[in-house]
Amino acid sequence: MPRPPVEEPVMEAAMASPGLGVPAAPAPLLSVQGVSLQYRTREHVITATHRVGFDVHRSDRFVLLGPSGCGKSTLLKAVAGFIRPVEGRITLNGRVVDRPGPDRMMVFQEFDQLLPWKTVLGNVMFPMQVSRCCSRAEARERALRSIDKVKLGKFRDAYPHMLSGGMKQRAAIARAMALEPDILLMDEPFAALDALTRRQMQDELLALWEDTRFTVLFVTHSIEEAVVVGSRILILSPHPGRVRAELNAHQFDHRHQGGAEFAALHRRIHAMLFAEADGAAAARGPKHD
Ligand SMILES: Nc1ncnc2c1ncn2[C@@H]1O[C@H](COP(=O)(O)OP(=O)(O)O)[C@@H](O)[C@H]1O
Ligand SMILES: [Mg+2]
Repeated sequence: MPRPPVEEPVMEAAMASPGLGVPAAPAPLLSVQGVSLQYRTREHVITATHRVGFDVHRSDRFVLLGPSGCGKSTLLKAVAGFIRPVEGRITLNGRVVDRPGPDRMMVFQEFDQLLPWKTVLGNVMFPMQVSRCCSRAEARERALRSIDKVKLGKFRDAYPHMLSGGMKQRAAIARAMALEPDILLMDEPFAALDALTRRQMQDELLALWEDTRFTVLFVTHSIEEAVVVGSRILILSPHPGRVRAELNAHQFDHRHQGGAEFAALHRRIHAMLFAEADGAAAARGPKHD
């Protein structure tokens, strides 16, 4: 019987440990390699990111952190497949991303995109019905599974105005998850919320992650939010965005806020974000730990 073709990520993983008996690192789910992104207007070329690279593994809460205008949203749009890199490449499951697809779902800001005249179940079923991905019976089946996963089973017949902010977030995520994407994309989803609600939504997101272990690529310009929400943080320089550093933050949540370790990491990130010597930092290359 002919052997199935070996997929690229397997090859890459194998090359990572060339016969040393060290187990190969699992291939990343999403790989962004040397990606430069540009907007072209009639008069100008605006470079949004310059040779940005990072890997997202399954169940990562991967945060892109950087000041406004550094290209975070543009990067997310490129991962979603709306913009093509002028340099470098983006792969998901080893396949080059060159168009939007149901394997990547954008969850939009504030979750107010739930249709007020539809129940939770109706909302979750809606995109499956519009995209005709499956029969009505299967859409219902998938929607119910997804609603159960986010623990909204008791509220499946409720309308959005009857739900708290956190429950609306769960419904919006259930709707995205019903399409069975590999990764959720969130662009500053809590930016417009007041501080208390924002904190509550971050906690809800973490609780939901504990339940379902989804993979999320999350954009923010807030250091606190990055440290609380992220398991890994990619720090980008101001315009055009370049990688300053990639850090671990999986050990932190709101309970650590105000603690010495949290404050030290915050200071470290702040210093990296606002380091003046862009050239010197670039010459040293991105830091990893
Ligand atoms: N549609 C567009 N046309 C031209 N330039 C754009 C467009 N969208 C964003 N930009 C520019 O690209 C850069 C990165 O923008 P963006 O990705 O929105 O940054 P961020 O999300 O980090 O705030 C900025 O300089 C912005 O002005
Ligand atoms: Mg943005």
